[in-house]
Amino acid sequence: MFKVLAKERLAENIYRTVIEAPKIARKRKAGQFVMLRVDEPGERIPLTISDADPEAGTITIVFQTVGYTTKLLGTLEAGDYVLDVAGPLGHPTHVEKFGTVVSIGGGLGIALGRSITEALYKAGNHVIAIISARNKSLLILEEEMKKICSELMVATDDGSYGFHGFPTQVLQQLIDSGRKIDLVVAVGPVPLMAAVSKLTKPYGIKTIVSLNPIMVDATGMCGACRVTVGGVTRFGCVEGPEFDGHQVDYDELMKRLKTYAEQEKEMDARFVAARSREIQEVKR
Ligand SMILES: Cc1cc2nc3c(=O)[nH]c(=O)nc-3n(C[C@H](O)[C@H](O)[C@H](O)COP(=O)(O)OP(=O)(O)OC[C@H]3O[C@@H](n4cnc5c(N)ncnc54)[C@H](O)[C@@H]3O)c2cc1C
Ligand code: FES
Repeated sequence: MFKVLAKERLAENIYRTVIEAPKIARKRKAGQFVMLRVDEPGERIPLTISDADPEAGTITIVFQTVGYTTKLLGTLEAGDYVLDVAGPLGHPTHVEKFGTVVSIGGGLGIALGRSITEALYKAGNHVIAIISARNKSLLILEEEMKKICSELMVATDDGSYGFHGFPTQVLQQLIDSGRKIDLVVAVGPVPLMAAVSKLTKPYGIKTIVSLNPIMVDATGMCGACRVTVGGVTRFGCVEGPEFDGHQVDYDELMKRLKTYAEQEKEMDARFVAARSREIQEVKR
């Protein structure tokens, strides 16, 4: 059992939770994730280790409540327990001094790419972080990100804060200004990672993306997480989650992410029904 030590709402449907997990906190490296199971009948889901404190023995996860398991996780408060947390899993980010790195985080991707940005900054790179959200109220971790990059740029789709438009437009402006960019890292929704990769490819700028395929066992046995990269089948859990963005088949990834849409809808409805029953009982 893993104790929840703190929980904070960062934006609508986005929570940050600190969990006591000393072994994982000591071993984890940037870009890695855990497989987490909330309770006994529950499924295991992959969640990125957004941050860790080896001395305090804690890991921090940031998650969006999109379906049954993340909504269940969102009900846990400080003092509650998570049944299993396995990790750290996945290949750590390849960190070296590249020169100038642009790190793009879209929506929840800001939190998922946080540790990657920090590691590249600590390795001596000039890191330009572009963080974006649909609107100002959904923008997360702005203050934290300022501390782990050389320059922070903000974009919102609706223009309610920062640059009015997409992070790809900010990146295009940087390229057009003649700044030499040695590496781009993009973390966020699949369409964002695809758009960033499409933009950088003609300029020959090396681009790394952190993929989020459906994972079941995360040990390389089941094949649920397979993605096509450079025409070759790769397993996201043991060979990723980071891949060369120019080589990824994003259309296939998008299709595979919808494989269980019907079952996910059914489970979500069950969660909503169970919660409303609980609320009725408390009111009685
Ligand atoms: C390496 C990796 C790291 C991730 N890190 C984070 C994170 O830090 N924070 C966060 O909020 N989300 C993260 N995700 C996505 C997260 O795992 C899914 O949102 C979660 O599994 C959804 O489960 P659910 O029951 O709440 O929703 P569901 O209704 O079951 O699914 C909602 C959507 O999530 C995706 N999904 C469903 N099951 C899985 C699964 N087992 N594995 C991966 N994706 C799935 C599907 O696209 C689905 O349409 C990560 C995914 C991967 C692969
Ligand atoms: S999740 Fe089963 S092989 Fe990757």
